[in-house]
Order: sequence, then C-alpha cells, then structure tokens
Amino acid sequence: MNKAVILVGGPSRATRFRPLSMHLPQPLFPVGGKPIIWHQIKALSAVKDLREIILIGFFEDYVFRSFLDKCQEEFPEITFKYLREYSQLGTAGGFFHFRDQILRGGPKNIFMLYTDICCSFPLNELLAQHERHGRLGTIMVTKVDRSSARLYGCVVVDNETKLAAHYVEKPETYVSDMASTGVFVFHQDIFRFMAQVMEQRANEFDQQRANESAYGRSVDEADESHDVNRLRLEQDVLRRMAADKKLSAYLCKGFWRQIKSAASAVPANGLYLQKALSENRSFLAEAKQDGPEIVGAVYIHPSAQIHPTARIGPNVSIHARVVIGPGVRVDDSILLDNVHIKDNAAVLHSIVGWDSRIGMWGRVEGSPITSSDDIDEVTHAGVKVNSICILGEDVQVKDEVFIRNSIVLPHKDLASNKHNEIIM
Ligand code: GTP
Repeated sequence: MNKAVILVGGPSRATRFRPLSMHLPQPLFPVGGKPIIWHQIKALSAVKDLREIILIGFFEDYVFRSFLDKCQEEFPEITFKYLREYSQLGTAGGFFHFRDQILRGGPKNIFMLYTDICCSFPLNELLAQHERHGRLGTIMVTKVDRSSARLYGCVVVDNETKLAAHYVEKPETYVSDMASTGVFVFHQDIFRFMAQVMEQRANEFDQQRANESAYGRSVDEADESHDVNRLRLEQDVLRRMAADKKLSAYLCKGFWRQIKSAASAVPANGLYLQKALSENRSFLAEAKQDGPEIVGAVYIHPSAQIHPTARIGPNVSIHARVVIGPGVRVDDSILLDNVHIKDNAAVLHSIVGWDSRIGMWGRVEGSPITSSDDIDEVTHAGVKVNSICILGEDVQVKDEVFIRNSIVLPHKDLASNKHNEIIM
C-alpha cells in the first residue's frame, strides 16, 4: 500500500501569488479549469495501490473541507485527510510531526508533492524507478536552462546508477541543470532517517548556543532557522540523503513549471489545457455552428454565457457565471467567477478577478510568458515590465479604458489608461 502527502503551506506563504491569494488560498486557485492541487490529486489517483492522500498545512481546518468532500466523491477509493501544523514547521517538519498518522496502515512508499508546481506528474514511472533502485528516496528532477539553474534546487545525477550524488539549493555558481521539481517518493524508513537528522540538528544548535555564550552572545531565538522542530526537506534532509548515497533521481520527461507568482498561473493554465486536449477532450469547449468561435484549448464553465460573435482561445479558462458580450476577444487568460466583459472588449495574457467588469471597447492586456522560469517580468525594448496583466477581485474597468501590463489590487475603479503600474 502507498500513501501521499501534499504540502499546502498556509496563509502567510504564497505572498508572490497576491493579489489572487487575498481571495482564495493558492492551492485552490483554478488552473486548467480545476484547483491547483486537484491536478496533484488526479495524478495520485492513478498510482497503483495508493490508498490515502493527506494535505499538510497551516491553514484553518475549514479551508479545505468542501474541496476534500468533493474529492472524496470523485475518487471514492482514496481516503482524504487534512492535518494542520500548529505553527509553520517547514517543508519536512509537518511531514515528520505527523509520522504516526502517515505510517498508520503500514504504507510501503510515501509520495510527497509540493502545491506550487504544474506538471505532467509521471508518478507511476517515478515509483517504478524508485522501487527498482531500492534507495531510501527518489527525487523527481527536470532539465532546466543552464543559465537559470541558480533559481532552483540543483541535483548532480549519475546517469548510469541514477544516484543523486549531490544536492545544492539555489547554487551561486553552476552545479547541474537538473532541478528539483517538488515531487518525491520515500520508503517508509524515511522517518528513521529524519529522526537522526533532527537529533543531529539539535546537537548542532546546542553546540552553537554553547559557543555563542562562551563569547558572551546569545542566539537569536526569533530566527526561525534555530527552531528545532522546523525542518526543510531539501536543505536539511535531501542534502544529507545525497551525501549518504540514499537518494535516487528520476528525470521527468513531461512538462513542469513552478506556480509561484500570480502571473505564472497563466502559463500553468495553458499547459493543463493542452494536456486536456490530448487526454480529456470532453472537458474542453467545442466549437458549435451557432456558438462563439473557439480557438485551440478552451475551458468554459457550463453556467458562463458567451455571445456567438465572441472569439475565445487558445489557452483560456472561463469560470462560473461569466458573461461575455458581442465581439469580445479573449486569448491566453483566466476569467474568474462572475466576470462581465462588455461589447468589443479584449482580454489578452491576463487574469481577471472575481466579480470584475470590463466596459465596452475596454482592453486588458499583458505580455505572454515565453520562458519556462517563474519570472513575472519581461523586457520590452530594454524596459522591464510586468508580464501578465492581473486584475484582483471586483475591479471595474470603464468603457474604452486600456490596462496594460499592470497589477490591480481588489475593489478599484479604473477610469483612465494604465501602463506598467501596480495599482494599490
Ligand atoms: P522558494 O523557491 O524559496 O519559494 O522555496 P521552495 O520551492 O523550496 O519551497 P517553498 O517554500 O516554496 O514551498 C514548497 C511547498 O511547500 C509549497 O507548496 C508550500 O506551500 C509548502 N510549504 C512551505 N513551507 C511549508 C510549511 O512550513 N508547512 C507546510 N505544510 N507546507 C509548507
């Protein structure tokens, strides 16, 4: 039997996802027509012998209740649980803290997935390689551009043996172009290894305190790196596993990118819609003779009303109760619940927040993100500008107003053109 843990973080994280995370916790934000973590859950549901999925985070208990009830209905063969950390314990601290609950029923392998990623999730292939090599854990890696490797946790991999020989978090100089994806699988003995790491760290802290007091100084207890219960998966655990030759690496050949900033939800949306195009065509909107023009992969919620003269797509998600008027053009964008777009307006490379309105001939336009890195800026003629245009909840764009490459916080009325601004 196998289990999985998804790390969902908490309200104080995902700051780069603002203003969207001000309305909805990042894990529940929809990309490809579904909440971000639904994609992790869907992929886990296809793993052989996987019986339980546990979300670990420090959001209030009610936050995931209705989402998990829906998952329980959709995936009845899997049990779902949310476990709440009493404080922010780091990417391995909560996993270790809840070890008794995770080990209940004796799972052989335990997957761990981060929330803030979008991926083709080849989890059965990852598990097969993990079992073949028989090491304590396997990290899924992806090949990134050599020039951007410093943005990631980098793994030096022996191609023959698949041994992860070395792990370095965001290296200053080039180490490897294999980046950690935030997808891991561990043998259940991982908790014994983590217990040793915790003990080792506690000894190191004691030693540090003793050294500091010998010099008449005191350790800054507010510094979270001195919290013995806080454990970082990559820096504290995986680095030691690599040094002890207990870590394998599996190379993901499908798609992967991070969803850290709000802007990165747009390319993630596109990747999941493209995936649906080949795997789940019926989820996507079909062009009909008397309906709007549909270009490429588009998701439209059944309650949305779209004028037949509108042109939608590619890579567009349109959510519940959205109303789109005649002659409207929407491309590479996410329109959230209750958005109204009036006649002849255009929305390109943008996210339009819940309950927002765009007036007649209005235009909301960002620039496409072409790099696979999680950057929220692009360079236009040598000037740095925001890439995707983001309107928070309840933003009113008046008729004929043009909002370009801007981020607009919730509850704003925009009566004049804005270019490359953050409107607070
Ligand atoms: P950055 O690149 O600096 O953002 O770090 P990272 O990608 O190594 O880790 P990050 O802090 O982004 O977190 C990875 C995943 O773990 C995300 O899904 C977070 O929501 C989640 N996470 C981070 N810290 C905690 C924590 O203390 N507790 C829990 N339960 N989840 C966490």
